[in-house]
Amino acid sequence: MSIEVEDLWKIYKNRVEALRGISFSVNSGEVFSLLGPNGAGKTTTVKILSCVLKPTKGKVSVLGFNIPEMCNEVRKIVGIVPQEFQGFSDLTVEDNIKYFSSLYDKKSDIDELIDILDLKKYVKTKFKQLSGGYKRRVAIACALAGDPKIVYLDEPTVGLDPKSRRNLWDIVRDLKRSGITVLLTTHYLDEAEILSDKVAVIYDGRIVRIGTPKELMSEFNKSNLEEAYLALMESLGEQ
Ligand SMILES: Nc1ncnc2c1ncn2[C@@H]1O[C@H](COP(=O)(O)OP(=O)(O)OP(=O)(O)O)[C@@H](O)[C@H]1O
Ligand SMILES: [Mg+2]
Repeated sequence: MSIEVEDLWKIYKNRVEALRGISFSVNSGEVFSLLGPNGAGKTTTVKILSCVLKPTKGKVSVLGFNIPEMCNEVRKIVGIVPQEFQGFSDLTVEDNIKYFSSLYDKKSDIDELIDILDLKKYVKTKFKQLSGGYKRRVAIACALAGDPKIVYLDEPTVGLDPKSRRNLWDIVRDLKRSGITVLLTTHYLDEAEILSDKVAVIYDGRIVRIGTPKELMSEFNKSNLEEAYLALMESLGEQ
């Protein structure tokens, strides 16, 4: 088992109950997607799993390392593409990737990352001068710089043009092929359907469905995940 979460709660200081007892597990090498409306608790979950935020209550472990107690170990084996990645604006693309690489003992090949993400043209360009889509690509390269065993991708395809979005799908498939576990959040149900072994739908801090895309589609008798998701939201009273 790669990720185990049991009765996880997150109550922010302003008393917002962002997570109200979620439980799920992710097998090694699986692509697992967290779906759900804005504010449901997806990013909060990703932040806890990557040791950016402490859980309020519950059991969380990543490759057997408990969070928050063993976060030093967890940080060595996970790569994160945060929803709002902030690169170093005055550093070049290459230096941003090198910086992230320097944080890890184990490293990926930087030239290979630049190649995979099609960043060659921009290696000497400052991060702040990049377009939004290229900033996303740098974020992904930085997440992979430490040769991680688990990768969290929080809405990685927002702002990517259609071809770049497909490229990212290929990257996710390659990660899976090389045995890396991928936890994805996305509002694009087509990509969730194509890429995910399993999906969990979070609604108002709780998991309301968990299963394969096919299981969700057959529950609602729909031929694609987006229709099934919309039917689920309707059943929950979401406008
Ligand atoms: N630092 C914070 N302090 C207080 N409340 C927060 C904080 N961060 C998030 N929240 C609240 O927690 C809830 C869950 O937010 P979260 O960012 O996890 O949602 P999300 O599912 O990622 O949404 P989106 O699809 O918009 O990215 C929301 O009600 C949000 O307003
Ligand atoms: Mg989010």
